[in-house]
Formats: sequence, structure tokens, C-alpha cells
Amino acid sequence: MTVGRVTGSPLRTLPAAPITWSREADVIVIGSGAAGMSAALEAAAWGRRVLLICKGALGGGSTPLAQGGLAAVLDAGDSAELHVRDTLVAGAGLCDEGAVETLVAAAPGEIARLGVLGARFDPGPLGLEGGHSRHRIVHAGGDASGAEVHRVLVEALLASEVEILEHTVALDALLDDRARVGGLLAATTRAAGGRLAVGEIRASAVVLAAGGYGQAYATTTNPAGATGDGMAFAARAGAEVTDVEFVQFHPTVLWQPGGRGQRPLVTEALRGAGAVLIDANGRRVMEGVHPLADLAPRDVVAAAMHRRITSSSSSHLWLDATALGRRHLDAHFPTVTAACRAIGIDPADNPIPVAPGAHYVCGGVRADMVGKTSIDGLFAVGEVAATGVHGANRLASNSLTEAVAAGRRLGQALGRSEASTGVGPGVEGPEAGQGVDPAGRDLLADAMSCHAGVVRHGEGLEHLLEVLAAQPAAPSGPLDLACVEATNLHTVSTLVATAALARTESRGCHRRADAPETRAEWAQRTGITAGPDGLRLRPLPPGWDSVERSSSGAGVRA
Ligand code: FAD
Ligand code: SIN
Repeated sequence: MTVGRVTGSPLRTLPAAPITWSREADVIVIGSGAAGMSAALEAAAWGRRVLLICKGALGGGSTPLAQGGLAAVLDAGDSAELHVRDTLVAGAGLCDEGAVETLVAAAPGEIARLGVLGARFDPGPLGLEGGHSRHRIVHAGGDASGAEVHRVLVEALLASEVEILEHTVALDALLDDRARVGGLLAATTRAAGGRLAVGEIRASAVVLAAGGYGQAYATTTNPAGATGDGMAFAARAGAEVTDVEFVQFHPTVLWQPGGRGQRPLVTEALRGAGAVLIDANGRRVMEGVHPLADLAPRDVVAAAMHRRITSSSSSHLWLDATALGRRHLDAHFPTVTAACRAIGIDPADNPIPVAPGAHYVCGGVRADMVGKTSIDGLFAVGEVAATGVHGANRLASNSLTEAVAAGRRLGQALGRSEASTGVGPGVEGPEAGQGVDPAGRDLLADAMSCHAGVVRHGEGLEHLLEVLAAQPAAPSGPLDLACVEATNLHTVSTLVATAALARTESRGCHRRADAPETRAEWAQRTGITAGPDGLRLRPLPPGWDSVERSSSGAGVRA
């Protein structure tokens, strides 16, 4: 890759809107998932004035939907070395080993802490998921693990000093003349007629914990609000993003004719318990493809499914879980069985129709292990952040533990840092633009699934960038949530397509039909920064502790 190559046009920006309210805090946290709540709780425990905002109700986000569980070394037959090794293998050469070791070491303690908060994890054997060489997944309520983690964090949050603003969407960072973040523009989403009431929140630390961008694709396991707001917010502020081409497609998303948008997940734990992928003729899909067969890492399974679906001109395959028996399915997989039965399929009697769907973004806002980004005052944790833990493909069930652990580390760091000195005058948001017309969302999501999906091709990605460039501006009128989300989806799609086109190889969950080999010279991460001339791409120096600061130039150490 050419160092500092500039490509494309400037990112689209949100239309202007009058500011009608203002607030202040020491720390503002954007997002009520595992990462945001963990960061907020910890910073508040250290005496910081914390304000947490979330786009919908507290229960939005991916966290309460998590099924499989939380990966940790808890069994005598397992070891930290094996968990690290499995994570590095899944990450296909792009993980930061120090970051992985930190996660693996923290995971058992984080699960114990959730237990102290009141989480009731299932007794009995640990679960097994793709890419794990040992049983090491802690689950709750069978396949309702995220709901239990979310429940105890919400309880703790409501009992804490953290102030909460639900139905409040973060729009853009406010930067001072030294490019330091000193707050943000946000809007309450419940004004009459769907309009947004825009306000200004001043804070010396802005924490992005806004999750991923599965909604950029035609089918996804992610909730409706996963529109990449956090990454778009950071990119517009000039923060560096990385690894954005590595979008993980979950192999088993419940398929239904015409189904699009958020779709129910069929947990990988089912395959861990013995379910197998079959085609229309009942032939096993994963046999002979990988030594771990149905439990190969997700990128391998999704790619094999894509090949079988394409070669058989079908739209989906099947997961056969009938051998598990009705009693086992009902007891251990209540969420999946309910979702199947809701569309008239009883998994105890019939194979489940499944196809890969967008599930998790391995990349995001470049951050170190305490959430520091390339811009002073802006922090990122959880799925929105890219610390190098997940590399080119996240190992199953590593993200909930990462979200909790990284959130707590950041909350502590903010708590320990010097008390806020307040934010000076002169802060402002990015130059206003025209936004993107929400009417084009489905077309764009279809183009993303087709050209930036499980298997990509250079020509398709170039076409995708043309489709993106041709997206019309939003019709003029008062700013609404649909325009904000369409603009953010356009931004993240542009970043994904640009990074995927630049990476002329196949690695982890980035697969190129026109560049099927993994190439040694591409064993590096790509950083992207948005500017007035377009997007600047550069190979990143190795190491999570070497994030350069845009304002001070000083290195950051955790
Ligand atoms: P989220 O939980 O996604 O929370 C994001 C928050 O940001 C939400 O509150 C949202 O409302 C808010 N937000 C977004 N935009 C804005 C905005 N503009 N302004 C204000 N607020 C905003 N991982 C595992 O480790 N194990 C599993 O078993 C597992 N299963 C999964 C199953 C499903 C169906 C899905 C979708 C994901 C699963 N994952 C799993 C992934 C894991 O759940 C997520 O990576 C993790 O929960 C992310 O946590 P988070 O706090 O970063 O973000
Ligand atoms: C699953 O239960 O299959 C999802 C687990 C994960 O995404 O980590």
C-alpha cells in the first residue's frame, strides 16, 4: 500500500440544525451496551460526573441479544496459552498479541465480577463454539447470555450516580481549535413529527460505546440502531479508523423468504452441541473443508456456505439440529427454538433454514487498551473500537468479555485522571452538509451485501463506490433520525468499501475472489483518516500502545 494514499471524496456530513438545549458533565458515554455501562459505572465510582446517552431505550444495542456467551479459561484442562492461540489463529495474523493476552487474562475476573453483580450463569458444562479448541463458553438462560449480562449492568447503573438520557442520539463531536474533543452535539428523538431537538453537551471526555454497523447490510443479526453512528462520528471528527474491511458474517442467521434487516441468530453453540450444516440434498457442507468441520472459525464456515449456496443456485442452506432432541433444544436453546417456531419451523423435527448475515465488525475506531483514540478527549470501547484484539476475524464469544473489560479499564483510567479542567470556548462541530437521502437505504444495503459481503471482487467494490458516490442528498427540511442514520450508514459503507478495495488479498473475514491468496506483504492493518481531500490510507505501525495523538504528538501508553 502507498503510504498516505488519498482516495475518494470527502465524507458526507449531517445537515445543520438549531441548538435548543445544553448540558455539561465530566464524562459523556454514548451507548448503553456492555461497554458503555461498564465504563460509566467505573468512572462514576471514581467520583466523575457521568452522563450516559443512548439512541433508544436502555435495552437497545447488541448486548442483550448475545446468545452463545462469554469465553474464558475456567476449566482445568484449558489454559490462557490455548485461548490466546485460538484467538490469534482466528484473527489470521492481524491480532495484536499483547492486546489478546490482556483480554484472555482479564476474562475470568470479569465473569466473576458479573457474578458478584448478580448474574446467574448456567451451571454445568462450558459451551463450545467455532475456532475454540476447548469448551470455554459461559452462558446464561441457555442461549440468553447477553440478556443476563445486560440485566445486571442496568440494575447497577440505575443504582449508581450515572445520569441517563434515553432516546438521545449523538450526532457529532465538538472540537476546539487544537482539535481536542470538548463535547458533542446530540438530539432527543421524541420531538413532535419525528424531528430532532438538537443540543450541545460539554464534557472533557467523550466515550464512544455505540456498537457496530450490521445494518449497512441487507441481512444482519444486529438491532435496528446498529447504523455505525459511532464510527461515523469519529471519522467526521478526524479520528483514525482501522480494520474496517473485516466484517464478520455469522454463518447461521435464520433465513426466511424476503427476510431483510434484523434477523434472528441461530447460535453457534448449536453446532457446538452437535448440529451440522447440510444442503438441499442432505449432504454435509463442512465435511472435508476444515479439520474442525462445522466448528471451524466463522470466516471459514461462512465462505464454505457461500460457495455451496452459489454453486447450487440456492438462497440458503440448513442447520440440522434434530439429533439433539426436543428436550435438549427446549432446555438449552429457548431463544432459537422460539424464533424458529415463530416462522413455523420446529427444530426438533426439521432442519433450520440458514444463511450467512452481517454480525460483528472486527474493526472500528483505532483505540489503545484504555480506549484512547487518535484525538485527545475522544475514547472508544466495545464493538465500535478496534484495539487489535480481534484481528481479521473475531473468535466467537470474545466480544462480550472484551466490552466489559475494556469498558472498566477505560472507566478506571478516566476516574484516575486529573479532574476535569472544563472545556474552553471555541468548540464547534464539523461543517454542515446535506446528509444522505434515507430513501436509498435498501438499495445501498443490497449493494453492500452483494459487493462487500462474504466474498468480494475488485470490480464489484469499484462499482459499490460508484453507487455510494451517486447517493442523493437528503431532501431539505428539519433534521430527522432517518437522515442521521442514512448518512452514518453511507459513511461506514464508504470506509468498508475503500478498505476492502485497497486490501488485494484474502485474509480472515475479508475474502476477494480476484485475490484469493493471503499475502505476506498484507500482514498489516490499514488506518484510514477522513479529510477535506478524501480518505487517507496508511499501513499502521504494529502495537496497540503506539496510537499517535493528533494534537500533542505524544505516544500513548496504557
Ligand atoms: P452494543 O451492545 O451494541 O450497544 C450500543 C449502544 O449504543 C446501544 O445502547 C445503542 O442504542 C447506542 N447507540 C448507537 N448509536 C448511538 C447514537 N448515535 N447515540 C446514542 N447512542 C447510540 N458476542 C459475544 O461475545 N458472545 C455472544 O454470544 C454474542 N452473541 C451475539 C448475538 C447477536 C444476535 C449479536 C447481534 C451480537 C452478538 N455478540 C456476541 C456480539 C456482542 O453482543 C457485541 O459485540 C457487544 O454486545 C457489543 O457491546 P457494545 O457495548 O460495544 O455495543
Ligand atoms: C453465537 O452465539 O453464535 C454468537 C456468538 C458470538 O458472536 O460471539
